[in-house]
Amino acid sequence: MMNDGMVIETIRGLIRDGEVHRDLYCSQEVFSLEMEHLFRNAWVYIGHESQVPNKGDYFATELGTQPVLMVRHSDNSIRALFNRCPHKGTQVVIDRKGNTGKFFRCPYHAWSFKTDGSLLAVPLKKGYENTGMPESCASKGMTPLAHVENYRGFIFAKINDAGPDFDGFFGESLSSLDNMIDRSPEGRLEVVGSPLRYLHHCNWKMLVENQTDTCHPMVAHESSAGTVKQIWEQEGGDGPKPMAVECILPFMSSYEFFENMGIRTWDNGHGHTGVHHSIHSDYSAIEGYFERMVTAYGEDRAKQILDENRHNTVYFPNMMIKGPIQSLRLFKPIAANKTLVESWIFRLVGAPDKLLERTAMYNRLINAPTSIVGHDDLEMYERAQSGLMSDGNQWVNMQRLYDPAEDDSPNATYNGTTEAQMRNQFRAWEKFMTLGIEEAAS
Ligand SMILES: [Fe+2]
Repeated sequence: MMNDGMVIETIRGLIRDGEVHRDLYCSQEVFSLEMEHLFRNAWVYIGHESQVPNKGDYFATELGTQPVLMVRHSDNSIRALFNRCPHKGTQVVIDRKGNTGKFFRCPYHAWSFKTDGSLLAVPLKKGYENTGMPESCASKGMTPLAHVENYRGFIFAKINDAGPDFDGFFGESLSSLDNMIDRSPEGRLEVVGSPLRYLHHCNWKMLVENQTDTCHPMVAHESSAGTVKQIWEQEGGDGPKPMAVECILPFMSSYEFFENMGIRTWDNGHGHTGVHHSIHSDYSAIEGYFERMVTAYGEDRAKQILDENRHNTVYFPNMMIKGPIQSLRLFKPIAANKTLVESWIFRLVGAPDKLLERTAMYNRLINAPTSIVGHDDLEMYERAQSGLMSDGNQWVNMQRLYDPAEDDSPNATYNGTTEAQMRNQFRAWEKFMTLGIEEAAS
């Protein structure tokens, strides 16, 4: 076990201006510290309220590596609990989702719990008389996560008391979530189906960094998107594009396109690509949608919502959303070299079905285990994970367009090929890794 001083020293030694040490990706010890500090100090996405519409509905997931669940309680609020029986530790819920009725029942000894986690009943209760049981951790039931926030349907939780409150953590970055939600004429989203899930043999942070890496699409995706482009041009390259072509072609946009689209960073590691335009800007209009938006919001506001075409918004530490295509990706850490990616899609309630069709198609084309695009990235991450084992150089570079002034101005916009958002993430990484232990050590 490291003491606080050693933890601080280890963390600080891994980051220097524009460079991070390979141990951030390769060391299982650093990974354990991330689970112990970063993922407990930050607000982490759990799920969406539409996944638990009825009382007793639950959804089981992981916060960092910890099994947790969210459940619709009898008062209609959504609660988040550690998925652990307080008795022997058994995971109470094994299915990803379901309805538990009025209570959870542990399959091992039938201890039962209300949907707020409190202990409801224990078989053979008499055997606990005069044993001190009422003072035990077990008698308190399934432990609730300390901080839970439902932001317009999106459920986030934070385990530790340290660190900023919800609004302080996200600040203006919530504008990206707002825009995705406002695209529904009713201001409401619904999760559709199960996510596409697949395992990546690499560190979770490589995927998060990739979300704002605008210098790779025209290179890494040349084999997939470049082939689509070639075929499309052979076919004449004009006329209305099939939906799939429309989704994939922008991946072959020029450096200039990505430079001009811009990147914005916010405090606490959040940021997005596509300040001025993005790969989602030129999708064809879907019949009847704009009219519904105008009816709901008025023409000016409808235009304002739809003119915002942010590309990828990273919510630190491990989530990304695409407002214009209504998708959310969660990069779930499993080990230093193992990450599970979940790609979720949403229906814009009150919008034409054709929008969902495009969202689902985009997700299959880009994010599915069978995607022709996602594998380009996967190959790069896994090569990096093995390449980092080489002793040729222990540092990973992210100095592109670095200006030391950015260290003191977290809310800023940049040329779209900057690596400022990656650096922003690592500043936040250091902050949330050392939160609460800093004072003790100094
Ligand atoms: Fe990519």
